[in-house]
This record gives sequence, structure tokens and C-alpha cells, in this order.
Amino acid sequence: MNNSPVLTIDGPSGSGKGTIAQMLAREFGWHYLDSGAIYRVLAYATLKHNIDLSEEANIVKMAEQLELRFQLEDTGLKVLLEGEEVSEHIRSEKAGNAASKVAVIPAVRTALLQRQRDFCQPPGLVTDGRDMGTVVFPDAQFKVFLTASAEERALRRHKQLKEKGIESNLSGLIKEISERDKRDSEREVAPLKAAKDALILDSTQLGISTVYEKVRAFCT
Ligand code: DC
Repeated sequence: MNNSPVLTIDGPSGSGKGTIAQMLAREFGWHYLDSGAIYRVLAYATLKHNIDLSEEANIVKMAEQLELRFQLEDTGLKVLLEGEEVSEHIRSEKAGNAASKVAVIPAVRTALLQRQRDFCQPPGLVTDGRDMGTVVFPDAQFKVFLTASAEERALRRHKQLKEKGIESNLSGLIKEISERDKRDSEREVAPLKAAKDALILDSTQLGISTVYEKVRAFCT
């Protein structure tokens, strides 16, 4: 790893970490790594190649060989798997849950470690995920743990889906989010948790611009 500055933003799904991370990467002119997208693409690739979630050795092999490209555009992150744009496909609840399941496999995490670290290039990196500040970039200069209640995160997701014209069931979303939190927090390797030296922010009662200002002030 080189000495470029790194800002890690970890937290549970729907806490707003991706939005804040992208805003700050643009503002600072730094690189951006959405580590969750790697797990999402891997889960999508296993479905595409008909690999069952129980076939661990094949999933690990796929993680090692994953042909993946990210481009941060004005409209958001463009994700390409083997040349195919999968940006929208990987954002469904189903893809998130499948990602959370492949992410439990320790050898998968090992296989993806160097790929994530390679994103750390001058002039700096903003990254979001679950274990960015604890495992992938333990020496990062700036670490943030962004959280919010499961109810608030489900409500945000419900509104987002509605804006896209997709109806969803709020209590079903709360249940799914809570199950994913549990799986991500209780796994043996690299569980979701705040690094000891992270700034902990609860965004349940905060708007996106307030969170953005707080994280920006923390880094400057
Ligand atoms: O951040 P996200 O919702 O896109 O992540 C999808 C899943 O990927 C998440 O439920 C767990 C896994 N993940 C992980 O294990 N470690 C990371 N650093 C990022 C995501």
C-alpha cells in the first residue's frame, strides 16, 4: 500500500454511506471504492454462471478471477462485469442478500483483499463497506462508522423504491434489513463493526447534507 490518504466509511446497509462516500470522493478528487459492489457483482456472477451458494471452492475461484470494472460517473457508479453493465441488476434487495451470503465465506474475503487495496492510489481514496476501517485499510487516516435505526433505513429504501415506481412492503423491508445486519455483524471473519478509532455517526435524525458536513469537517 502507498501513503495516499484514505477515508473509510463503514456501516450497515442503507445508512447512506455510499452517497456520502461518492460526494466526498468527488469533492476531494480522490478515487472511490464501493466494496459492497464487489460482493454484489460476485453474487451476481455466481447466479449468471449457475454456481450454487454451497459451492464454496467455485465461488472462491470466481472471486479470484472476477473481471470487474468501476467508473464513477455524474449519475453514480457504473459497474461492468465481463464487459456487461450490471449497475442496476446488482442493486436489488435479492442481490444485496446474496452478496451478504457470499461475503460470509472467509476464503472469498481473502481472495478479494488485494483487489480492494489496489484502489488506494494517489491522490487518495474514499471507500465504503463493512470492514474497510477494521481489516482492509486498518491504517486509514480517517475512519467513520455511519449508522441509523433499521426502521429509518427501511423507510429510506421504501421511499427510494417508490420514486422508481416500485411498490414495497415496509415491514418486509425492516425484516430483510435486520436479517442482513445480523448476518453481516455475526460472521466470524471481518464482521460489521466500528473501528476503535472511528468517528461514529448516527444518521437516524440527520439529513444527508448534515452528515456530509460532519464527515467533511472530520477530514479537514
Ligand atoms: O454495502 P452493500 O449493501 O452494497 O453490501 C452488500 C453486502 O456485501 C453486505 O450485506 C455484506 C457484504 N459486504 C461485506 O461483507 N464487506 C464489505 N466491505 C462490503 C459489503
